[in-house]
Amino acid sequence: MPKASSLISLLCVLVLATSHAKANIVENNYAISIYDMGKLISHEHYLLNILENFTDLLQNKVDTIENYLEMMNYEEDEKPPNNAAEYFRLIRRLHLDYLNWVWYLEQQPWEVLVAHIIAIAPHMPSAKDIQEATRAIHLIQIVYSLPTDKMVEGILMDVQYNASLNPMECYTIANELFKDREYAAAMEWLSSGVDMYNAETDKEELYTQLGVPLSNFYELFVKIQDAQGGRGYAMTELKTAMKTWPEQVSFRRAHSRLKMNIRIDKEPNTEKARPEFVYAHCCTHECRPTSKLFCLYNSTTSSFLRLAPLKMELLSLDPYVVLYHDVVSEEDVERIKILAQEDLTRATTVHEDQVLREDPYRTTKAKWLNDTDEVTQRVSRLIQDMTNFDLSGSDMFQVMNYGIGGYYGNHYDFLRNAKSPKNFVDRIATTMFYLSDVPLGGATVFPVLKLSVFPKKGSALMWYNLHHSGEGDKRTFHSACPTIVGSRWVMTRWIREIQQLFRRPCLTQI
Ligand SMILES: *[C@@H]1O[C@H](CO)[C@@H](O)[C@H](O)[C@H]1NC(C)=O
Ligand SMILES: *[C@@H]1O[C@H](CO)[C@@H](O)[C@H](O)[C@H]1NC(C)=O
Ligand SMILES: *[C@@H]1O[C@H](CO)[C@@H](O)[C@H](O)[C@H]1NC(C)=O
Ligand SMILES: *[C@@H]1O[C@H](CO)[C@@H](O)[C@H](O)[C@H]1NC(C)=O
Repeated sequence: MPKASSLISLLCVLVLATSHAKANIVENNYAISIYDMGKLISHEHYLLNILENFTDLLQNKVDTIENYLEMMNYEEDEKPPNNAAEYFRLIRRLHLDYLNWVWYLEQQPWEVLVAHIIAIAPHMPSAKDIQEATRAIHLIQIVYSLPTDKMVEGILMDVQYNASLNPMECYTIANELFKDREYAAAMEWLSSGVDMYNAETDKEELYTQLGVPLSNFYELFVKIQDAQGGRGYAMTELKTAMKTWPEQVSFRRAHSRLKMNIRIDKEPNTEKARPEFVYAHCCTHECRPTSKLFCLYNSTTSSFLRLAPLKMELLSLDPYVVLYHDVVSEEDVERIKILAQEDLTRATTVHEDQVLREDPYRTTKAKWLNDTDEVTQRVSRLIQDMTNFDLSGSDMFQVMNYGIGGYYGNHYDFLRNAKSPKNFVDRIATTMFYLSDVPLGGATVFPVLKLSVFPKKGSALMWYNLHHSGEGDKRTFHSACPTIVGSRWVMTRWIREIQQLFRRPCLTQI
């Protein structure tokens, strides 16, 4: 019976393998974490390896067939056989070789490669990743005023990066922006794409194979013009396109749609799909409140600090905002990132109804860390030294890694609202640790205070969220500017008010 049992165990393995594969199909949300996107690089490398192996197999076939053609002197004119041996050879070839060629042409040794490609499908980014990555590019353009033609060339804030974009990429961005009703921006990307496409005619076949024929650009052009109300212009272009690609059904469909819109004089839809990001100036420049505040070594809060004072920069007195320099060591920062990085999940936000939900204005992944590790315990002690607050009853640490253009729209950290119960325990203060340098972008901005802080690995920002009355202080409205270059890592700890009755210093006396 050994055979049967091994067959059964094989079946079990297969069942396990398929159920495992199913369990893997989750939304990956790559675009919102630079760390997670690192995993895509090895997937792409694997794909390229498969394609390379495919060319090897294909080349073997080509070589074999070419050898045969050469052996048969195929290039020369047909010569009828004139002796017994030649007749024999002809008969043999067409009886035996013929069948072998049928078999050979049917063989597809790359089937296994196709299976390999399909096996990595659960790890591929999704349409949502495309949408979020495009929005990130657009947001970066708006916040940092980056012209489209410069971005296409890979120039970001006057620095040349090896990141120029090709016509297909421009088309994808234009198409996504069109869906978001960002018509003017979509048109810019589309024009850049068409110009490049026309300059690279040798690549047309490759682009077409990859799903972006030149006709796509015209179709999108017509859609954007139509949506913006430029219908006469759209019609002219469409008629030209129909002459160039007379067999393309989609153009004829676009034509009747456009004619109908003209006939019924349909209102163009120019309403923006989402609000604009505000307060760009302090994302580009470091903003400090006008009155010059000062730096000092703070050694007053705890007895420990009298031995090891912290370098503190007072940024605002009311509301109280301070920046501590070099408070977490390089080793501790790296250790925290290692603790956090393996199961980062999409960060949610608390909504009006106190329910946590995914938020399109928070493109970051996060992990909660508790106080059980030596390093988090060390940081907790540091927070107590920095703030003199008692952390028991406060939230855990939240470590965050931002995505492409990762940002967090304007928000408050306090949670109390009109519907909160009387005894609601709110977040009295926020401590935010920067766990990476961000070469370009990624500042924390307080628009009302006209204050921005650029991330510096090992430094920490601390502010009070509440007025003395316990009401939320609306001036603490803040956001994270989009990251352009680098991977933005931040760790926050919110301090709850219940433990702090006698610990909050009386600010009017400072
Ligand atoms: C590609 O071929 C190489 C050499 O034969 C082999 O080591 C590698 O595993 C193959 N890659 C894949 C993805 O099949
Ligand atoms: C761009 O690539 C070239 C060659 O690969 C390299 O020498 C150069 O340093 C890169 N530039 C940037 C800004 O990464
Ligand atoms: C703290 O986090 C670790 C790692 O996630 C977990 O194993 C442990 O159970 C947690 N401890 C407490 C007290 O929540
Ligand atoms: C030191 O920091 C604590 C907490 O941030 C603050 O209450 C105290 O006033 C600071 N000391 C000075 C001299 O600013």
